[in-house]
Amino acid sequence: MTTISNSIAQRDIQFQLHSQTNPRRFEEQGPLIVTRGEGVRVYDNTGKAYIEGMAGLWCATLGFSNERLIAAAKAQYDELPYYHTFFQRTGEGATNLSEKLVELTGMKGGKSYFTTSGSEANETMVKLSWIYHTVHGKPGKRKIIARDRAFHGSTIAAASMCGLDFMHREFGLPLPGFLHTSAPYSYRGMQEGENEATYVERLARELEDLIVREGPETIAAFIAEPVYAGGGIIVPPAGYFQRIQEVLNKYDILCLDDEIVCGFGRTGKWFGKDLVGMQPDMMALAKGLSSSYFPIAAVVLAPKIYDAVAEFNKQGGAFGHGFTNSGHPVGVAVALEAIKIYEEMNIPEKVQKIGTRLRNRFEETAARSPILGEVRGAGLMLGIEIVKDKQTKEPFDVEKQAGATFDRIAYRNGLIARCMGDILGFAPPLILSEGEADELADLFDKSIAELEKTLYA
Ligand SMILES: Cc1ncc(COP(=O)(O)O)c(C=O)c1O
Repeated sequence: MTTISNSIAQRDIQFQLHSQTNPRRFEEQGPLIVTRGEGVRVYDNTGKAYIEGMAGLWCATLGFSNERLIAAAKAQYDELPYYHTFFQRTGEGATNLSEKLVELTGMKGGKSYFTTSGSEANETMVKLSWIYHTVHGKPGKRKIIARDRAFHGSTIAAASMCGLDFMHREFGLPLPGFLHTSAPYSYRGMQEGENEATYVERLARELEDLIVREGPETIAAFIAEPVYAGGGIIVPPAGYFQRIQEVLNKYDILCLDDEIVCGFGRTGKWFGKDLVGMQPDMMALAKGLSSSYFPIAAVVLAPKIYDAVAEFNKQGGAFGHGFTNSGHPVGVAVALEAIKIYEEMNIPEKVQKIGTRLRNRFEETAARSPILGEVRGAGLMLGIEIVKDKQTKEPFDVEKQAGATFDRIAYRNGLIARCMGDILGFAPPLILSEGEADELADLFDKSIAELEKTLYA
C-alpha cells in the first residue's frame, strides 16, 4: 500500500474516517484502493485482481459489472432521478416493487415499506412493533429481545440489538430495553450429552425464563437472522425456530426477521425464513434487494401490523415515520431489475448447486488441515472455524490473530475473505460459476496451507 505524497492513500489517511477499521493501524498501512469490478472480481489501483469472496459486504449478489442493473439505473435517471413516497405520493416502480416483495415473501395481504439502509429497516420494525402493541392496549410492551452474536446494524436501536461487544463498547450500548438471549451456536454452545433436540429445548427455556423474568407485558418483539451472517455464519439446529415461535406466540411477542443478508437466494432459498421455518410478522430486506447497486431497503409487514398503523391514525393523523430517499425511483428500478434477473436465473436452485460445490471443496481442505474445526452454512453463505485442536475445539491464543492472518494471506493471493475472529466467512456473488467456485476454493486451500505454516512457525 502506497504512501506517496499527495497520493489517494495519503489524502485518504488525512481526511477519511473508516467503518470497522482501527484508526492507528490504518494510518500506518493505508487503504486498499479498489478501482473497478468485473463479474465476481474487483481490481485495485495497481491492477491486481481479487475474487470478491464476500460480495463486498454480503451484498453485490450479481457481481460488479451487471449491465442490466446499470441500464435500469441510467434509464430511471433519464426519466425521473428523484421523487419520494411521503404524503400519498408514489411512482409506478415503487408500486410494482411493493407488490413484488409481498408476493415473493409470501406475506399474504401484507404491505411493503421502503427505507434506505438495513439499519433503518430494522429500526422501522421496532417502531411498528410498538405501534402494534399500543393499538392492542398493551403500550407497556416496549422491550426487544435479540440474540448474542447478532448483527442488525449501526444506528442506535439497531446497534443495541446487535449481540457483539465491538458494536456496543465505544457507545455505552445497548440502550435500556434491548435484551439478549443465547445464540443457537451448536458447535460451541451444545453441552456434553446434549443432542440438537435437547439443546433447542434448553435455548427455548432460556428465552422463556428471560421473558418471564422481565415480565411478558414488557416485551414487544424478538428479532433474528434466519442464518447468522456477521456473528459467524451460524445455522440454527433443526426445530429451533419452531420452538422459539411457540414461546413468542404464548406471550404475544412479535417475530422480526432480519433477512438483510439471507434474503434473495443467499441461503439457497428465496428467503432464509423458508430454510429455517420462521414465521415472521415483519421482514427486513436490503443488500441483495438491489445487489447494492443502489442503497435501498424495505420492510414487508403482515396485515395486522398495517391495520395497527391505520387504527392508530384513525382520527386523521399521519404515520410519523419516513426517510427522504424511501422508495427512491432509481433504487426501485434497480431492485425490480435485480429480482427479474434472480427469477430468470432461478436463483435458489443455482445457489444450492454452486454452494454445495464450494462447500465440498472447503470440506476437503478441512479434512486434511489440522486447524479447520468445522465447515458450516447454507447456500453461498459459508463459514469455517479455525481451531488449535480439532478434537477439543480449543481456539488459538488471541494474540495469534489466526483469522486476521488468514485474511492477509488470502488477500495477498488475490482472494477477499472475511474473518470474524477465527471464523472465516465466504458469501461470494451469487453469479459465481463452477470454474470460479473452484478457483476460489483453490485460493482458499493455498491460503490455509500458508496459514498453517505461519501459525506453527
Ligand atoms: C444481518 C444484517 N442486518 C442489518 C445490517 C445493517 O444494514 P445496513 O448497513 O444497510 O444498515 C447488516 C449489515 O451488514 C446485516 O448484515
